[in-house]
Amino acid sequence: MNRNEFLKNASAATVLAYFGISLESCSIDVDEAPSGGVQKSIEFNLNDVAYIPLENYGGWVLHPSENVLIVNDDGDLKAFGSRCTHSGCTRDWDTSNEIFHCSCHGSKFNFEGEVVTGPANAPLTRLTLVRNGDIVTIG
Ligand code: FES
Repeated sequence: MNRNEFLKNASAATVLAYFGISLESCSIDVDEAPSGGVQKSIEFNLNDVAYIPLENYGGWVLHPSENVLIVNDDGDLKAFGSRCTHSGCTRDWDTSNEIFHCSCHGSKFNFEGEVVTGPANAPLTRLTLVRNGDIVTIG
């Protein structure tokens, strides 16, 4: 069998293996779900200094170690996966006038996670958030 016959008849995985490319390199980070959320739950205390911005209406936090946006939307805490639905930037966020801005390419999302301005065309992933006093659990 010559090279052309091999490539015509082989599966994609076989061809990749032939060229020394592993499918393993396509795996995702185990701590992050494909949709931009978290696979394990995270918990924090609102009294920790990192979460002080959440005391104020419109205050928001990008979780220090997880790709999660948390916002105080008129007193209601909400959480979203911070993976932008345009091309996946996770840590490039800012807010103003109750709008999340992804600085990678300029997409904007409201505090419901809905697209306000593209290029993104899908909403942010809303995550389950449970508050028990000052303890917040997400995921
Ligand atoms: S990744 Fe957010 S706008 Fe492109």
